[in-house]
Amino acid sequence: MTQTPPPKVLISRERIQERVLELGAQIEREHPDGSLVILGVLKGSFMFLADLARAISRPLQVEFLGVQSYGGAKTSSGAVQITLDLTNPIDGSDVIIVEDIVDTGLTAQFLMQQLAARQARSVKLCSLLHKPARSVRPVHIDYLGFTIEDVFVIGYGLDYAQKYRNLPDICVIEG
Ligand code: IMP
Ligand code: MG
Repeated sequence: MTQTPPPKVLISRERIQERVLELGAQIEREHPDGSLVILGVLKGSFMFLADLARAISRPLQVEFLGVQSYGGAKTSSGAVQITLDLTNPIDGSDVIIVEDIVDTGLTAQFLMQQLAARQARSVKLCSLLHKPARSVRPVHIDYLGFTIEDVFVIGYGLDYAQKYRNLPDICVIEG
């Protein structure tokens, strides 16, 4: 009988929380006024977005956008599709796209292009993780949590075949 090996912690919940507080403080410092929108990319960013929102004490608007670029596999299909669109206008706002991870960069590049067309005052990118080894599109990440090696990570919102999102730490599956 084959058994799934237990996940190994790569970035602990304590390190995540510490870094999220720093990112929140930086975002707050750099956006002292104006209408601020933090735009979570579903589903992977849901946990990060919830913590990041609480690390920013100024008024802000929370929005979500659904995209799909992965099937059940660990490699990108390359094609990005919007599965859930914005429900409120963002024109005139400073928008921060909140991603779980920038891997190939295809999703982030697609989203930056899509949002540039919607009359936001500014569009920036915040990603919890970056895997530069797999980059195929250059993407500028304005607010970055951690740079990681070329390993497949799960937990703190990130899935493998829709599972493991509820793990409180960022982990790798061994084997
Ligand atoms: P992209 O390749 O930069 O377009 O990344 C697209 C999406 O793939 C990310 O937003 C994640 O949802 C997912 N992804 C990329 N690498 C990983 C990983 O190591 N674990 C889980 N999901 C990943
Ligand atoms: Mg994602």
